[in-house]
Amino acid sequence: MTRLDIPTPALLVDVAALDRNISRMARFFATLPCKVRPHFKAHKTPAIARRQLAAGSCTGLTCATVAEAEVVARFCLDVLVANEVVDGDKCARLAKLASAVRLTVAVDSEAGLLQLARAAAAAGVTIGVLVDVNVGQERCGVLPGQPALTLARLVAGAPGLTLRGLMGYEGHLQPMRDRAEREARARAAMALLVDSAELLRQHGLPCEVVSAGGTGTFDISGQVAGVTEIQAGSYALMDSDYGALEMPFEYACSILGTVVSRPAADRCVADCGHKAMTKDHGLPTVKDLPGATVVSLNDEHATITLHGDSAVEIGDRLELRPSHIDPTMNLHDVCYAMDGDRVIDVWPIEGRGYAEHRHGVRL
Ligand SMILES: Cc1ncc(COP(=O)(O)O)c(C=O)c1O
Repeated sequence: MTRLDIPTPALLVDVAALDRNISRMARFFATLPCKVRPHFKAHKTPAIARRQLAAGSCTGLTCATVAEAEVVARFCLDVLVANEVVDGDKCARLAKLASAVRLTVAVDSEAGLLQLARAAAAAGVTIGVLVDVNVGQERCGVLPGQPALTLARLVAGAPGLTLRGLMGYEGHLQPMRDRAEREARARAAMALLVDSAELLRQHGLPCEVVSAGGTGTFDISGQVAGVTEIQAGSYALMDSDYGALEMPFEYACSILGTVVSRPAADRCVADCGHKAMTKDHGLPTVKDLPGATVVSLNDEHATITLHGDSAVEIGDRLELRPSHIDPTMNLHDVCYAMDGDRVIDVWPIEGRGYAEHRHGVRL
C-alpha cells in the first residue's frame, strides 16, 4: 500500500522522523538525573508509546484521563495520571488499575483525595499521589509552599494513599516564543516547585518525585536540580505551533488530503477540514508546496491559496501540518505509519475519544 491508496483525509506518521525525535529526547535525558515521562495524551497511540519506552530514559508514561491510563496500563507498569480525578466511578477504575501497575495520580483538594482514598480502601490497593502545585499556569493546583505542605500532610495520613511527591506543570510557558524569557520564567516556576518539595522533606514527608515540564521546557526544567521527570508529549510528532519555537524535533505527522476543487488559478480546495485537524492553535501549514497557504478550514474543506503558476490538479494528494497535535490525534481512529510513500503499518489510536461511552452507558 502506498500514499496513493490511503483514503483521505488521513493522519500520516513519518516513522523515521518519529524515531529520531524519540531518540533525541531519550539521549538528552540519558546522562541527567532527571528523566522523561512521555505524555500519552499527545498521540494516544500505543505503538508510539512503546517506541518511547523502548528508547529508554523513561520513568513511565503520563496520562491525562482514566481512559488513557486504562489503555497504557496494558503495556506500561508505571503510570502517572497528571490530572485531577474526583468522580467515584473513575476513582474505582483507577483503584482497579493500581492492583496491576504502579499508579500515581495528581491531587489538588481534600475532596479529591478523599474520593481516591475511599476507592483505594474499597479495592484494597495503594494509590500513589503527587500533590499538584500551581506554578503559574493558573489552572489546577494548590499554591506552592504552605498550602502544598498542608495537602501533602493530608495525603500522607490518608489510608490507601501513598505520598510520592509534587507535580507542577508550567503549561503557560510552553509556547512562549522568546527563548530567554521562557528560560527565565521556567526556572522561576521550577524554583517554586523545588522549594515546596524541600519544605515537605523538612517536615518529614516523602517527596521522591518532582514532576513537571513539557516539550517547550524539557531542556530547561529538565536541568533544574530537584526536578525528577519531564512530562513532554508533543515532541514525538510535533506540530506547527511548537515548530515555530525552533525545537530540536522534526515534524513527524501530517494530514493527507485530496484536491477536490481547483476553482481559480491561485486556489485549490482539499478534502481535509477541521474534522481532520483542529485549528485551536491556528491554521495548518502546507508541506512541500512552496508558496501555498491554508486560508481557511471548514468541516470538510481546506482552502489553500497557491502561486498562480502552481501545477496542482484535481485528484492530487497534499499534506498539511497540524498546528496542535493532541486534539488532532483525537479526531482519528488510526494513523498510517509511513516509510516515504510506503505504508508500513496502520496504528490504532486506542486512547482517542472517551472510551467509556463506547460500550454503552448503564441507564
Ligand atoms: C499536565 C501536563 N503535563 C505536560 C504536558 C506537556 O505536553 P507537551 O509536551 O505536549 O506540551 C501537558 C500538555 O498540555 C499537560 O497538560
